[in-house]
Amino acid sequence: MPSELLASRYPTAFITVVSAGLGRAFAEGLLAAGVRVWGTARDVSRPAPFAGRDGFTAVALDLSDGDAAEAAYARASGEAGGFALIINQARYGVFADAARAVAGLWHRQIEDMLQATLRLARLGLRDLQARDSGSIVNVSSLAVEFPLPYMSGYNVAKAGLSAWSETIAYEVHGTGVSVIDFRPGDFRTDFNRVATRDPGADEPRFDRVWRRLGRNLDIAPPPERAVADLLRAIRRGRSGFVRTGSFFQTRFAPALARIAPWSWKLALHARYFDLR
Ligand SMILES: NC(=O)c1ccc[n+]([C@@H]2O[C@H](COP(=O)([O-])OP(=O)(O)OC[C@H]3O[C@@H](n4cnc5c(N)ncnc54)[C@H](OP(=O)(O)O)[C@@H]3O)[C@@H](O)[C@H]2O)c1
Repeated sequence: MPSELLASRYPTAFITVVSAGLGRAFAEGLLAAGVRVWGTARDVSRPAPFAGRDGFTAVALDLSDGDAAEAAYARASGEAGGFALIINQARYGVFADAARAVAGLWHRQIEDMLQATLRLARLGLRDLQARDSGSIVNVSSLAVEFPLPYMSGYNVAKAGLSAWSETIAYEVHGTGVSVIDFRPGDFRTDFNRVATRDPGADEPRFDRVWRRLGRNLDIAPPPERAVADLLRAIRRGRSGFVRTGSFFQTRFAPALARIAPWSWKLALHARYFDLR
């Protein structure tokens, strides 16, 4: 589908967090295709690359403040005359032992990444359903299929988000609305630099996994690869789940996991993360 058609099917998009990483690349890709983008940031002075750019509107939004986030979404939607595309992708990592993670940190992550994300997603979905058209993209993670060690809160939040997306795919089936459960593997972003590491996670074993996570991101593909997969998925306009990332993570590992016994998956995954 050429860009003009993409922009006529999706004239407006709302993206949570365009200040960095994948969200920034998604905004670039959509703006280049002629889609008008409302992009959020906690600090709206940060999405500088888009400032003053035709078709871009910055929205101040912190997911941790649910009422204010809903109000910000509603204002933006009013301004845009409704959104045709909604991309939910804010997040942060908490690296901590599952049993000993500081309870407040763990619960806050679930609250921010799952509850708050779903609160906005439900609002967006109602808008799309009212017009019986458009797509909602929930950016989950391949961690849903291959959980990251010492990131139990992140894995739980993403699994919940994917479960919600699949549920909605059934509920909107046969209507003009579609839902995409978008699952990135590793991408070269600031994930580890902005992740919170529990101060209690100080054993050599944690260090090895932490270093492995960082190394995997350093050698991962750039966010532009995810943009191409996102655009392909929304052009199709069908509900479904989409893996994006390296061939190894998105094709080889899932195919192997389907045919190999679970004990193999465990052993290989542990080796991958240097869990001796
Ligand atoms: N990169 C990967 O390898 C990877 C892999 C799998 C899935 N994903 C998923 O892809 C999405 C984007 O990841 P990324 O790597 O691009 O992330 P990133 O570069 O770390 O950016 C994430 C953004 O989330 C924002 N954020 C954190 N807490 C927030 C809150 N309470 N309210 C509003 N914004 C908040 C941060 O905003 P500030 O700029 O305000 O700090 C940050 O810019 C996430 O959903 C992530 O889970 C990424």
